[in-house]
Amino acid sequence: MEIKGGVTIRAPRQVVWDSLNAVEVLQRCIPGCESLVQDSDTSFAATVVTKLGPIKARFQGRVSLSDIDAPRRYTLQGEGQGGVAGSAKVTIQVALEELAADQTQLTYSAQAQLFGKLAQLGSRLVDAAAKSLSEEFFAKFRQAIEGPDSAQDLPSEDSPTETRAHRLPDSQQSGRPVVAATGTEDPIKLFVTDGMAIVTLNRPAVKNAMSLQMWKRLAQIFDDLGKDRQVRVVILTGAGGNFCAGADIAEFESVRDNAQQSRDYEVAVDACCSAIFQLPKPTIAVISGYCLGGGAHLAMSCDFRMAAADAVFGIPAGRLSIVYGVNGTAKLLALVGVTRAKQILFSAQRFGADDALRWGFIDHREEATPSDSAGWLGWFKRRPAPLAQDPMAAARRFAQQMIQQAPLTQSGAKFMLNSMALSLAGLDAAEAERRIRQASDSQDYREGRQAFLEKRTPRFQGS
Ligand code: COA
Repeated sequence: MEIKGGVTIRAPRQVVWDSLNAVEVLQRCIPGCESLVQDSDTSFAATVVTKLGPIKARFQGRVSLSDIDAPRRYTLQGEGQGGVAGSAKVTIQVALEELAADQTQLTYSAQAQLFGKLAQLGSRLVDAAAKSLSEEFFAKFRQAIEGPDSAQDLPSEDSPTETRAHRLPDSQQSGRPVVAATGTEDPIKLFVTDGMAIVTLNRPAVKNAMSLQMWKRLAQIFDDLGKDRQVRVVILTGAGGNFCAGADIAEFESVRDNAQQSRDYEVAVDACCSAIFQLPKPTIAVISGYCLGGGAHLAMSCDFRMAAADAVFGIPAGRLSIVYGVNGTAKLLALVGVTRAKQILFSAQRFGADDALRWGFIDHREEATPSDSAGWLGWFKRRPAPLAQDPMAAARRFAQQMIQQAPLTQSGAKFMLNSMALSLAGLDAAEAERRIRQASDSQDYREGRQAFLEKRTPRFQGS
């Protein structure tokens, strides 16, 4: 079977291309996608639940990109095993044509093959289901780029999705989502969807090691997210199966070679981690693979750390004769206690997600996925099989739960808890009092009571 179609998207071709390569966007748009974990520049481990006629199945497999001619075309291949239902293989050729500076024609041609029980379904039924899945994907994809305005003529089952790259404060005035295209090559990517900002460290070739420029840029991104009222929760994660292997040691010779440079470098690291730590909104670090050194400080600067079973933590400052910064050390002490903190810093030992959970370094550990890929998909075993479930889905669920609650409650509680438990300065009691009064005087306080009386969900504005 072959399905062809197209959609015109009001965005520059580069923006559409970047979105076609962004794991957050793909996960959001693939119908029934439960998780999508990028494990290389061009491949993802995927779990997708699909109903074909009377058969509903959970497919586990891979999505890979090939024949890449950026930003014009690529081929997306998905192959998955749906248990007793059988298995499926889908190939989609996607091409982008520039119609105007801000208009792109996306055309696609998809072929699907079914095996096992699924192959016994009538071809008309299968064709209709495949056509509707393709249309749903590309409709959601367009909506993800263009924002809620484009929803008028799209299927309306989903809440509006907004996707954009680093939006500068002045673009907030327009009221329309701006997709300012952090390219796929950009070392930090940002997407905003449904009140959630997903910030992705994106240097998979060096396990997302942070360059000096990245520390500075990440600080700026978090400062801007703090001012953006549409963003309610921020998720910080890493591309390519790792969170962050710490500071980029390769550039130390040029940017952190002596005491003065080291001091300046630490100022940049602290400014970045403080921007995350002091963001007046909930933050979640979603951690797979390595989370080391400065990467651990980034994670500890978030309110929550949700990790995959394969996560590996450590602070190997002792291997480089570096004294870990004061603020990172304070957070480590608060999370794991003094003896554990000494153990981690003195020994530079790496520890896994189980220990991290037990010691209080992380607060959620995702269960491992069976890596069994028997049957006709046996050849998958030659590739790195996904051993750990992506914690992103759990993080998004938790974020959604927090987004329902009053922003002033969260920012007030965060201010108090951070200063009482995690920072050197201690609590500014007058500021705490001011925040308590601000919440009691707020429109949101009235809205919360009103909503309770009217038995409806409150709509909070943060003021
Ligand atoms: N800075 C710069 N480059 C780094 C890096 C870092 N912190 N961490 C990893 N890389 C690079 C490696 O140099 C390598 O580059 P190459 O392919 O050009 O040789 C690439 O990332 C892959 O890393 P590699 O060491 O080959 O992978 P591995 O799986 O064997 O080990 C680590 C991964 C993270 C355990 C190991 O790279 C490491 O110990 N990194 C340093 C971690 C650290 O000390 N961080 C604290 C810095 S203050």
